[in-house]
Amino acid sequence: MSNPLHSDRILHGADYNPDQWHLSPDILNEDIAAMKRAGVTTVTVGIFAWTLYEPEEGRYTFEWLDGLLERLTTEGLSVFLSTPSGSKPMWMSEKYPEIRRVNREGQRERSGHRHNHCPSSTLYREKVAALNERLARRYAGHPALKLWHVSNELQGECFCGNCLERFRNWLKERYQTLDALNSAWWARFWNHSFTDWSQIDPRDTSIDGMQVDWKRFVNILHMEHLDNEIAPLKQFAPEIPVSTNFMCFRPPWDYWRWSRHIDVISNDSYPNYFGEADMWKKAAHTSLVHDLMRGMARGNPWILMESCPSAVNWKLINKLKPNGVHLMECAQAVAHGADGVLYFQFRKGRGGAEKYHGAILDHDSRTDHRVFREVAAAGDWLGRQAAVAGSPCPRAEVAILHDWESQWALNSSAGLRQPPATPKNPRDTYHDLLTDHHRGWWQAGVPTDVIWPDAEDFRAQLAGRRVILAPAQYMLKPGQAEALMEAVDAGARLVLSHLSGIVDEHNRCLLGGWPGHGLHKAAGVKVTEWDSLFDGETLAVESLSLPGDAYRVDRAFGLLKLEGATPVAVPSEGHWAGTPVACRQIFGQGELFVLAGNFDDAFYRDFALMLTRELTLFRPADTDLPQGVHATLREKDGKEHLFIINYTAEPKTVKLPGETVTLKPFEVYSA
Ligand code: GLA
Ligand code: ZN
Repeated sequence: MSNPLHSDRILHGADYNPDQWHLSPDILNEDIAAMKRAGVTTVTVGIFAWTLYEPEEGRYTFEWLDGLLERLTTEGLSVFLSTPSGSKPMWMSEKYPEIRRVNREGQRERSGHRHNHCPSSTLYREKVAALNERLARRYAGHPALKLWHVSNELQGECFCGNCLERFRNWLKERYQTLDALNSAWWARFWNHSFTDWSQIDPRDTSIDGMQVDWKRFVNILHMEHLDNEIAPLKQFAPEIPVSTNFMCFRPPWDYWRWSRHIDVISNDSYPNYFGEADMWKKAAHTSLVHDLMRGMARGNPWILMESCPSAVNWKLINKLKPNGVHLMECAQAVAHGADGVLYFQFRKGRGGAEKYHGAILDHDSRTDHRVFREVAAAGDWLGRQAAVAGSPCPRAEVAILHDWESQWALNSSAGLRQPPATPKNPRDTYHDLLTDHHRGWWQAGVPTDVIWPDAEDFRAQLAGRRVILAPAQYMLKPGQAEALMEAVDAGARLVLSHLSGIVDEHNRCLLGGWPGHGLHKAAGVKVTEWDSLFDGETLAVESLSLPGDAYRVDRAFGLLKLEGATPVAVPSEGHWAGTPVACRQIFGQGELFVLAGNFDDAFYRDFALMLTRELTLFRPADTDLPQGVHATLREKDGKEHLFIINYTAEPKTVKLPGETVTLKPFEVYSA
């Protein structure tokens, strides 16, 4: 394990934009005094400051940043220095329209807004590289500089002529011939056979194989942009680690691949904890996101780069966090392996689209109001966690497969995809399955690692795991099924769903039985049909192995034809009463399970508890935890640090071996 930030404490800080305040000495003095009171160690600067760096083409002005960094150094604060490509200068955008994005309808966007450069523009890449080179030359070796924060939330797609042309060239390289491409995309369907490369247009959503390739391609454009930004930073300031802030969980890009290009994994997380009755479900979700970060960081510490100290401003309803929730949220990140907690934003601006977004300092600059006190309490707590800085969480016995290509494929497959709840917030069959299963293990108090089936070392990632969850592994590539079966043969429990192992890498159905590539033979079962449920419609299920007598399935389920497997659950009502929807089958030293449906939380919890007992799995708190309480470990120099957090608004009692602890609402216990 290495600690790329070489920090001997957990960092605490925020995005900081004194440039919006014209770097006024009064504001700067006020800010720095407040940072000290809030236990801030680190600020991210320069995120949207390109025009200050380069007010007109080729004229650079860095003196303002020199002064700012000098002041921050004197005050003992460290800096994440951002490259400013998240927002293009107005002069550049007007002079070079080609750097602006083109939308699906073929219209070039106007200048303005942000996160909207064309990801294939050579000119934009040149401009970014030229600026980054100057930043790197100037600030290499600067005592305050701890990390390069490359761009901001790289995202989006562009349909300009250049992007489309490059897509076609990429396809030529990938498939060589149109015959191969037509076959991969099953293009005779609806008469889609391409007879010339120029006919290819990624906006045709009826070609589901193309949808997956388009996402792969745009993902590559973003990685090229990232590499182009990083090259001068590494050339002139090789000692400074590099990060770019992810937006998990549901960005449409494959961050697993991006993670191989950066030194430090960082994420922006806004779970919006309002203290509501089922807040624990959001907490479980956030834990999974944090586990994913740790996975992409290969077990190393990662950074919570953005979070919100109070209410965001971009939801329909922007609620405040109740007292105590802020510290809970910060501690959750640390308990899952983070070495830093930062916010958007340090101070609210006077104007602009985010003037009401939560911040450490409000428009009155007071340090005695509620939010500031909550932040200062978190700063104090984080300051006392030096004992875990730089340390990993122990390797989990339970691993869950996560794969953006499966998500792309599943969600572009009509029939399996659930209809969008709202266009802005589509329901996501992939994400639902993944999180449903994970929540069961979270409730059972068993830690999970997230692993990537396309990883160079997938077999090593599987080795020694006691339980492997692959419920949403919809796409199965050659070799992956074999690796999974080897792991089972050697003793692992593999948990699949009705949508595991359905298509190949082109989003074409695997033939000969699901789960495909022979997994159905090992599992002694075939998934023969799928059925969907209306909103609010559920199916009662009884289980032969689990203690509850009234589980339910909602959204969708698969019907199973057992070919040797033992049933675990069957519907007890409706047309399919008696047809198994869950089963188990011994294989080698291990066992395969197919849980064919979106079951309720009690089902997944009882299932996880059953395996926990059968296999005597390790649990950090070594006890059954009350609902909404979760425990994790970090380990440094042979010493374990236990975190138990109550993610509910009620007190909860936890019976630890030799001690009973009562946690107040949202309380964090560490030992
Ligand atoms: C994102 C951006 C920030 C800010 C926040 C608001 O994470 O990176 O610049 O807009 O959202 O929540
Ligand atoms: Zn473009």
